[in-house]
Amino acid sequence: MADETAPSENTVLGRSQIFTPEVVNDIHMKAELGRYRMRGGGIFKKIPHWDELVFLPGTLTRFVIEGYREKCETKTVLGGRFAKKPLELDIPVYITGMSFGALSLEAKMALAKGASMAGTATCSGEGGMIPPERDLSTKWYYQVIQSRYGFNPHHLMLADAVEFFIGQGCKVGMGGHLMGQKVTEQVAEMRSLPAGIDQRSPARHPDWLGPDDLSLKIQEVREATDYQVPIQLKLGAARVYDDVRMAAKCGPDVIYLDGAEGGTGAGPHIGTEETGIPLMAAIPEARRALEDVGLADEIDLVVAGGIRNGADIAKCIALGAKAVAIGSAALMALGSNKDVAGADYEGTFGVPASDFYHWHTGKDPAGITTQDPELRKRLNVDEAAVRVYNFLHTLTLEVQMLARACGKTDVHSLEPEDLNALTTEAAAMARVPLAGTKYIPGVTEEKTLTEIRDLLAKHIANDTGGNRDV
Ligand SMILES: Cc1cc2nc3c(=O)[nH]c(=O)nc-3n(C[C@H](O)[C@H](O)[C@H](O)COP(=O)(O)O)c2cc1C
Repeated sequence: MADETAPSENTVLGRSQIFTPEVVNDIHMKAELGRYRMRGGGIFKKIPHWDELVFLPGTLTRFVIEGYREKCETKTVLGGRFAKKPLELDIPVYITGMSFGALSLEAKMALAKGASMAGTATCSGEGGMIPPERDLSTKWYYQVIQSRYGFNPHHLMLADAVEFFIGQGCKVGMGGHLMGQKVTEQVAEMRSLPAGIDQRSPARHPDWLGPDDLSLKIQEVREATDYQVPIQLKLGAARVYDDVRMAAKCGPDVIYLDGAEGGTGAGPHIGTEETGIPLMAAIPEARRALEDVGLADEIDLVVAGGIRNGADIAKCIALGAKAVAIGSAALMALGSNKDVAGADYEGTFGVPASDFYHWHTGKDPAGITTQDPELRKRLNVDEAAVRVYNFLHTLTLEVQMLARACGKTDVHSLEPEDLNALTTEAAAMARVPLAGTKYIPGVTEEKTLTEIRDLLAKHIANDTGGNRDV
């Protein structure tokens, strides 16, 4: 007779997909620690993503553009709504705000240098301005965070564009986090906070209780910068349609939308996993919102979150973004998540280099997400800058390749009509047809209902007319 309790592989019924080994371990850790878990990086769980969209290049119905002989423009101008000097980028991608503190001085310098070589911008992030980053950046955003501290009007005056942080996709509704081990004397001084203790920047600004106050704040910064530079609002993607309509009313030149895929230097694991919507769903919502308030041609949309290659960027542009910002991928171009001589990723962090998400610990063997003087020496600024430049250049070539294949002489001419979806979820979110059909979930039904309503209305009108005649 079979013995169910016998220790044999044949008696195993299966494994829980809910209480996975990681979940069980997480429960054990929380039971020990009595607090939630922090980490760096982006979302772990599988969500609908850019891989579920494909381009429909020209064949006979569309004329394709020849790669070697015909130009495909990449110039990207942001903030022409009110700014006298809009931000002119040579390419449709730039380096997003990542703070000094989360990143080493060398990493910030290499990003700035690489971006300048590629003719594009970098952003301070929330740690304030470090002079070498400003010096090496030909186009530089100054980030204004949700607090009264850490704001330096002299640094504001040096900016080519200003970004107001309202939220980020990785942890929508939460402020910034920087773990104490990365808060050196210098990092602390720049943030006007004590060294060595965990820093949490506020989730909302004490001076802005809503859009009316934010409008005033934007106006103040506009006057302080003499209407010269663009003002951008950075939002985490959540209730995108309403948030973007409200944001538009506050008077920005640019709205930056950060999808749920977005990375962070440090944040609560549960916040990263459980807040925000995918960028693919957010961009069409944002476009609809801007169209409905009549500002689609005036306010530029910048997007970010989980962008890995030129195809992701081209898809964002096709759905309605003017430019795309990258964070995690830029760190990887610097050399993050790559084996380093003398480092034992598995032994120290329990994961291979490619899975390294321990950016919050300050122990990054590649010298990028750390303030440790010894680890920092491992990043050679000039070599890392060239890698960043190479990556940005390649991203641009990839976007151009796809745009040309779709018959465009300017990457900004990509449009939703150039895309098809491989899953119904992606079709519904991106609002493009499911491959091989004309079906766009939600949109098709709405159209059919409208047709039925119109037919019914005509029918009733005819009927009434007929009866009257009798
Ligand atoms: C190391 C690191 C530090 C960051 N620091 C900031 C910051 O200071 N301010 C901010 O608004 N966002 C910060 N972010 C978020 C990025 O600006 C951006 O929203 C996100 O990285 C985009 O997603 P991606 O990393 O998948 O490209 C940080 C992200 C990383 C990876």
